[in-house]
Amino acid sequence: MTPASPSQRTGGGFSHLVVTASWVVVLCLTTHYVSTRALRFLVVTPQAYGLYFWPRASWLLLHVLAGLVAIGTGLPQFWPRLRRDHVKVHRVVGRVYLSSVVLGGATGLFLATTSRVTPTYAAGLAFLSVAWLTTSGMAFAAILNRNVDQHKQWMIRSYVVTLAFVSFRLGEDVLAYWGIGTKADRLSVMSWACWAVPLLFTEIAFQARPVFLGRRAAPTGDWSRAFEPRIGGPA
Ligand code: HEM
Repeated sequence: MTPASPSQRTGGGFSHLVVTASWVVVLCLTTHYVSTRALRFLVVTPQAYGLYFWPRASWLLLHVLAGLVAIGTGLPQFWPRLRRDHVKVHRVVGRVYLSSVVLGGATGLFLATTSRVTPTYAAGLAFLSVAWLTTSGMAFAAILNRNVDQHKQWMIRSYVVTLAFVSFRLGEDVLAYWGIGTKADRLSVMSWACWAVPLLFTEIAFQARPVFLGRRAAPTGDWSRAFEPRIGGPA
């Protein structure tokens, strides 16, 4: 194997820094929005839920619990050491993640069809549920067929969709800060943008190597590793 040139080493160091910084930003935003926008629903009272959500309280409680489990169990799966040294734990945590997506997606679908903001908002969240269930279903089907590369790809898409909870609230806050549209406009825009935009950029990140390097891109290269945090060295 040819040793890496100094410029390759610098490039690798820079992309490592970008990936680590991105994970830190994602973790901070997720912690912020979970603590300020989700945890209050764990106290099941009419005051905590408000008039809008109280008639659907049991659906929302199940939805929030499933969402919290999905966020919490999906994250460690990206850690290479867990997959390398503790395959059984990876499998069990993966099954818990998938079950929470099924519960969160089904309750999300019900909540979307019973929401009363705008039809665009309801449709955006209903298709967010569909995206959550299908990306996760594709990841599960791939691993049942022992296609590890496809499994990783679809799991990354699935977790990007899970984090739509964060991108939705972030986008809503940014639009409100700039005074763009009414509240209903902002909710309607974000119900689509919170998952379509992150999925678009994920796809660009996936396809950039083959598109820009053409035949020079290694056909079997494990590009999905670019998304992994490098805690404790490579797997
Ligand atoms: C990614 C797929 C998801 C879908 C399709 C989805 C769908 C929905 C829908 C339809 C509602 C009700 C909106 C309304 O009636 O106006 C809702 C509310 C809510 N969801 Fe989700 N959700 C998803 C992920 C998550 C996750 C991962 C969490 C994490 C805890 C979460 C937490 C909440 C909370 C706290 C609410 C109520 C408060 C609010 O709207 O800010 N959801 N969700």
